[in-house]
Amino acid sequence: MNELLAVAGRLHPLLLHLPIGFVAGLAALETLGALRRAPPPLAVMATLTRLTQLAAAAAITTGLLLEQEGGYPEALADQHRNVALAFFVVSLAMGRFVRSEARRTAFRVSLGLALVLVGVAGHLGGSITHGGNFLFEPLEEHAPPKPAVEPPAQPREVAEAPTAVATNVVEQVPASAVRSTFEERIAPLFAASCTNCHGEDKRKGRLAMHTREGLERGGSSGPAFVAGDVAASLLVQRLELPLDDEEHMPPADKPQPSAHDVALLKAWIAAGAPFEGQVELRVESFAVPAASTTPIAQKPATTTVQSAPPAAPIAPPPAALEALRRELAHVQPVSQTDPLLWIDFAAPAAEMDDARVRALLEPLVEHVAELSLARTRIGDATLELLARMPQLRKLDLRATLVTDAGARWLAAAPRLRELIAAQTSLGDATLAELAKSGALERLVLWNSAATEAGIAALQAARPALVIESGALPNAAVLEAESEVKFTSDAPLPGAEAAPAALTPLNARCPVSDAPVNPKYAVVFEGKVVGFCCPNCPKEFWADPKAFAEKLK
Ligand code: HEC
Repeated sequence: MNELLAVAGRLHPLLLHLPIGFVAGLAALETLGALRRAPPPLAVMATLTRLTQLAAAAAITTGLLLEQEGGYPEALADQHRNVALAFFVVSLAMGRFVRSEARRTAFRVSLGLALVLVGVAGHLGGSITHGGNFLFEPLEEHAPPKPAVEPPAQPREVAEAPTAVATNVVEQVPASAVRSTFEERIAPLFAASCTNCHGEDKRKGRLAMHTREGLERGGSSGPAFVAGDVAASLLVQRLELPLDDEEHMPPADKPQPSAHDVALLKAWIAAGAPFEGQVELRVESFAVPAASTTPIAQKPATTTVQSAPPAAPIAPPPAALEALRRELAHVQPVSQTDPLLWIDFAAPAAEMDDARVRALLEPLVEHVAELSLARTRIGDATLELLARMPQLRKLDLRATLVTDAGARWLAAAPRLRELIAAQTSLGDATLAELAKSGALERLVLWNSAATEAGIAALQAARPALVIESGALPNAAVLEAESEVKFTSDAPLPGAEAAPAALTPLNARCPVSDAPVNPKYAVVFEGKVVGFCCPNCPKEFWADPKAFAEKLK
């Protein structure tokens, strides 16, 4: 159904021409009629007006559907929608006036207004698809370039350009040829996480972050930063508020910048917030422990110690954990201090498709932090679910059936820090989406459909992102496979721990009698039972007692 609606939405670019045509026709008929002093018959005008209304309704409905797909500049989309709705209302008024000759003047006035509105709506619509200055762009060819702050075209290592050299260069070549540290490292970060709402089109809190002037001016609460004073800088304060604080930036449902990005911003402010020239950013002084993804501290940071990631609001529903274990999925808390879940579908991978994975994970969306779906048969339908996992930070999708069509869901996962997309058909379209993912720090693309050009573009947009594309001379497996474990009763929050060593007590598989492969072991009644292959544990769990004899 959703797909059908999306198709309907995509009829918008076709249907939108109908109301324009009808109104233009009405206006032409009425004008010619007036000039010839022989106004067209009202019946004809009434029919055309009715058609205008229907066409406007169709164009607006499909437009609203298209908007649901997202990705349009909000401010322009708002204006476009409002003007279109105003046009529809005016077309209704035309419908009333066209009924009697006595109201012909009112009809003409409303027709004129409709013509203007449809023109404005059309122009705004054009700006949405072709860019804000589409209409007047040819006139601007020779105007001096705007001092816009945009992500660099090529990532450049600061280390390559020591300060002294850089300043010399600035004196010798046009300023535009040398990018400042701000342009290289800070502006892209704002562009990725902030300027949607604090930029050209929107200035939430009266703060614009897409230009130097805007940043220096600050917002409705005053200056956005205090050069040299990290803790006193509003930008940092807002970023470090707890995620559930209303004033946390960016808003909790939006992609969050990575801890590294936050450290970078702090280092820049600490360095005196310079907009010009190359400076060294001492990111290490603000780095957070690798274990914590969340750039969140209770107070504005005066120390570099970060609080633990926010705990899931409630304990995971036991029935959902039970269901996962019945399917032989591995589930356990991420660590002793972090009750969020690590779930691995390695064992039952071959049987796991979208429907089953979604059914199993839906009750746990709040609780999943690390998830491996490697080699399962899931596709894009599961990605939609992942986008709704507020705590998800590590995701392994290797050798799954996901496609570029689902990429926007990946980009929407607010905290996704590490993504393994190796051996998938994910390509450049996905990389373009991932450029928007504020939290992503590491991306593994070995044997995916991504091209060198796509990877270079992503790297340019997100210089800090670590991309492992396997474009190494020896494109071996980049990441050691994690060992398959069948700890069906791994400890849960509050539960007792499993035996420390997973050395099976048996030498032969209780199900098949073949030699045990220690990779396939389960913990049963406190003992480690080994199997020959991933299938036997299932049979074992179906009725453990039947095999008890063989384990003696
Ligand atoms: C989805 C929209 C959205 C995004 C993205 C967003 N903000 Fe905001 N921001 C707002 C809104 C709305 C306000 C005004 C309400 C408020 O003050 O909380 C605001 C206010 C602020 C303010 C206070 C301005 C003032 O002077 O009162 C700061 C600072 C800020 N944002 C920083 C950021 C930073 C830094 C980012 C990126 C890391 C960011 N915002 C991303 C919506 C957004």
